[in-house]
Amino acid sequence: MNALHIRHLFHRYGPTEVLTDVGLDLYAGETLALVGPSGCGKSTLLQVVASLLTPSEIVMHNDFRGIGYVFQQPNLMPWMNAQDNIALGLKALGLHREARRRQAAALALRLGLNEADLGKYPHELSGGMQSRVSLGRALALSPDLLLLDEPFAALDVGLKLELYGLLREQVVQRGCAVLMITHDLMEAVRLADRILLMVPEPGRVIHEFTLDMPQAERSESWIHHSTGELMETWEVRIAFGLTTGELEIVTASHGKHTGCQV
Ligand SMILES: Nc1ncnc2c1ncn2[C@@H]1O[C@H](COP(=O)(O)OP(=O)(O)OP(=O)(O)O)[C@@H](O)[C@H]1O
Ligand SMILES: [Mg+2]
Repeated sequence: MNALHIRHLFHRYGPTEVLTDVGLDLYAGETLALVGPSGCGKSTLLQVVASLLTPSEIVMHNDFRGIGYVFQQPNLMPWMNAQDNIALGLKALGLHREARRRQAAALALRLGLNEADLGKYPHELSGGMQSRVSLGRALALSPDLLLLDEPFAALDVGLKLELYGLLREQVVQRGCAVLMITHDLMEAVRLADRILLMVPEPGRVIHEFTLDMPQAERSESWIHHSTGELMETWEVRIAFGLTTGELEIVTASHGKHTGCQV
């Protein structure tokens, strides 16, 4: 089974240590959520996995070949319309122009964009539309590893639920592995098999929560209840500054993946 294993990841920007001794495992068909306060190094970690950034130190084993990346900022090509932005990567697969455009249009419609949106340029699209085009660009390539940096942050609740379904399809039908950053704990509980909790200064993983309930059996009430329980854990309370606590306690448990059940 394809897998990604990271151990002893350290990264410095100049003299500032932003990631220290980070480790994670991710297998095909799994969804791993990264949560933690702003600035704790989540995006930096994703860039390292995508080999867009060379860290100071790392031991990494990565079997995944096709990687789809949805950046925190949509980063669309300003001179291309929505349809061509989605179709961008398909050229490399050798598809001719009409097939690329057809495939991109079908995907755009599934992402809740309409015919008129296809011809719009990035500056004519709302933030939520841009993030859907960015998601479409990543999905178009049928990647076996999806790296998602807060892909749903700019979307309303109805659209979010629809796109959660689309993401689940990628995992269930194609065995895609997903490493996703979110600020929304309920989203993490809804979508993830495991949740990695990070804290800043320097960025590190302090806990891994395992959600044992099969995705198909997660009811709305289970999701709400489990999110509430997660919010009550001392690890989450300390990470998000919800309580005063001795950070030494956190540091002492650093690196220990206890697999606490939510
Ligand atoms: N190119 C860079 N040069 C210098 N410092 C950087 C650079 N990119 C990020 N940083 C710093 O590294 C730290 C981690 O940044 P990162 O963007 O990974 O955080 P994050 O967890 O994704 O935050 P957010 O939730 O706000 O997106 C921050 O202190 C940030 O200021
Ligand atoms: Mg970020």
